[in-house]
Amino acid sequence: MSSPDAAPPPGEPSAQDPARPPGEPSAQDPAPPPGEPSARDAAAAPGGPSAQDAAAAPAEPPDRLPPALSSMWRLCRLGFHYEPALMGVAFVLALAAALPDALLAVWFTLLGEGLIQHKPGLLRFAAVALAVSVVATWLLATVSTRIQRRFRDKVTIALESHVARLQAGISTIAHQERPEYLDRLSVLREQIFTLDHMYMSVFSTAGWILRLAVTVALLTSVNPVLVTLVLFAIPTVAVTSWRPVVERIAQERGAQADRLARHLFTLSTTASSGKELRVLGIGPAFAERRRASWERWYRPLAAARTRSSAWYAAGWAVFALGYVGAIVLVATGPHASPASAILVLTAGARLSSYVGATVSEIGFLRGIWMDGSRRLAWLEDYAGATAQAADLPAPAGIAQGIRFEHVTFCYPGSDRPALHDVDLFLPAGSVVAIVGENGAGKTTLVKLLAKLYAPTSGRIRIDAVDLARIDSAQWRERLAGAFQDFFRFEFRAGQAIGLGDLPRMDVEPALTAALDRAGARDVVETLPTGLRTQLGPTWHDGVDISYGQWQKLALARGFMRDEPLVAALDEPTAALDAETEHQLFERYASRARQARQGGSTTILVSHRFSTVRMADLIVVLDGARVAEVGSHDELMARGGRYSELYRIQAKAYQ
Ligand SMILES: Nc1ncnc2c1ncn2[C@@H]1O[C@H](COP(=O)(O)OP(=O)(O)O)[C@@H](O)[C@H]1O
Ligand SMILES: [Mg+2]
Repeated sequence: MSSPDAAPPPGEPSAQDPARPPGEPSAQDPAPPPGEPSARDAAAAPGGPSAQDAAAAPAEPPDRLPPALSSMWRLCRLGFHYEPALMGVAFVLALAAALPDALLAVWFTLLGEGLIQHKPGLLRFAAVALAVSVVATWLLATVSTRIQRRFRDKVTIALESHVARLQAGISTIAHQERPEYLDRLSVLREQIFTLDHMYMSVFSTAGWILRLAVTVALLTSVNPVLVTLVLFAIPTVAVTSWRPVVERIAQERGAQADRLARHLFTLSTTASSGKELRVLGIGPAFAERRRASWERWYRPLAAARTRSSAWYAAGWAVFALGYVGAIVLVATGPHASPASAILVLTAGARLSSYVGATVSEIGFLRGIWMDGSRRLAWLEDYAGATAQAADLPAPAGIAQGIRFEHVTFCYPGSDRPALHDVDLFLPAGSVVAIVGENGAGKTTLVKLLAKLYAPTSGRIRIDAVDLARIDSAQWRERLAGAFQDFFRFEFRAGQAIGLGDLPRMDVEPALTAALDRAGARDVVETLPTGLRTQLGPTWHDGVDISYGQWQKLALARGFMRDEPLVAALDEPTAALDAETEHQLFERYASRARQARQGGSTTILVSHRFSTVRMADLIVVLDGARVAEVGSHDELMARGGRYSELYRIQAKAYQ
């Protein structure tokens, strides 16, 4: 049980909600109405949103956290979905454990009645019931704790995979790049326990409410007027939940003075400032100021504490008044009996603490645990809303080519376009090179093509079909790619490469073919057990390899797929020397040209013009716009930006 004093202020959970600046114009701003059916349905089906829901889903994912109560309810349903039996048993046990405790008043009453009216049978019964109740309270609490712990462990694992699945199921990566989203996700990733704590809190709240209900029922059975005793408990409850807030405000108000006092203390006691302190003779003055500063912090706090304690005492006095009144009423009323007096004495005494515990548990629930459930509900809604409105499979091949039609793209949260009105045609089967300075938008273009983001305006067509309508997962299965910021998968070398084409992960010829394409055979040959070598020095028998070697493996991973529709190589060879890169791309491009029938388009991003010149088509990006397009010869003849840059680099290499 949580002590009421420790209860967090029943603060608005939305305070944790990183609000965006009010004036910021954003397409993302309007949250979908709380009752949005499609997102909700998608989330209600654990395991991810389905395509049907997605068709009706709003285009913009929700920005705000969903309401607390419905989020909590959704989390409860989720727990029940994963662990129905355990959750049911845990809930029933939590209630059962509350019952004997609340019934103690009844047994005391019967005990009193048996004693006063000399009924040995009743006396015996009451004594046995009392004993059973006491033992049951202990036993049920023990068993209930065990079961709850078991439920928590199991449900945590289920929720972890639920969260991971939701995140991986989101077809774009904006949620992993926006700071305010990252904050929400980090809670779900690192503090998943906030979710299972919510279950415990709900169980325990239910237990307290049951105790309260039983106690009120007992009091009512003596005299309906006794229900008003609950009203007398209101002041204590109010003060209990208000107290920490007031004290915290006082503490925060004095925080500056407190920090100053600490700072002065450090100055007075550390060696670095000691010399000057002594020479200037300001030590005593500092001590004085420290004292004053501390007083400035502590005095208001102490006053606030005294005030709130007075209110607390007053609250209890009100309850005590009601309590005494109730006993007098029962003892002197028309049906006065010692038994009912005992009942009121025992049940009434517990009433206030039950009310307090209920309120404090609800405070915890609202203040802390509900927040986790809101974040999860948000993620579910987000995953539901961003679920693609894709209704077409990936094409078997590309006949004409890929067309960018007035594509403009701004990263979420930024109004500066990373690509501006890009109009481009990349013929099927061609090798296209993209050049441009850092930040020109090269990587962004590749990301849009991989459907990691959707264009802000304009569209990308694959032949005649809008890329937005093609299923993301299927489309990506037909992509191959390697990136500058590759990831180091610390698996066995074979696996780290095979991930590039999961179905053929263990097919050795496929792995060696990929290694050849990437020119990475030498890396594997130096490994102690070849493809079976564990990578990463922190693992058992794991080996460390150099950055360049990691990059070559990443490249091999990118070359795993035999017939991709689009192969995007976004500066994957920046760590290799120009000569190696040139040979590599040469080999890859010639292979790509041979496979032209399939319409496989290769996109090379490089800043080395020696590599770029072999491409069929060169796209020069400059400040988010397409500056020039053409073959090497055409662009050189034109004498524009490309030829200028080419000549500068060529000179540098001479
Ligand atoms: N995740 C991101 N969020 C916001 N802005 C980004 C993000 N990634 C890139 N940008 C910005 O978009 C522009 C284009 O970036 P990028 O496509 O990576 O350039 P390049 O690959 O040509 O060096 C840059 O101004 C960059 O700062
Ligand atoms: Mg880049």
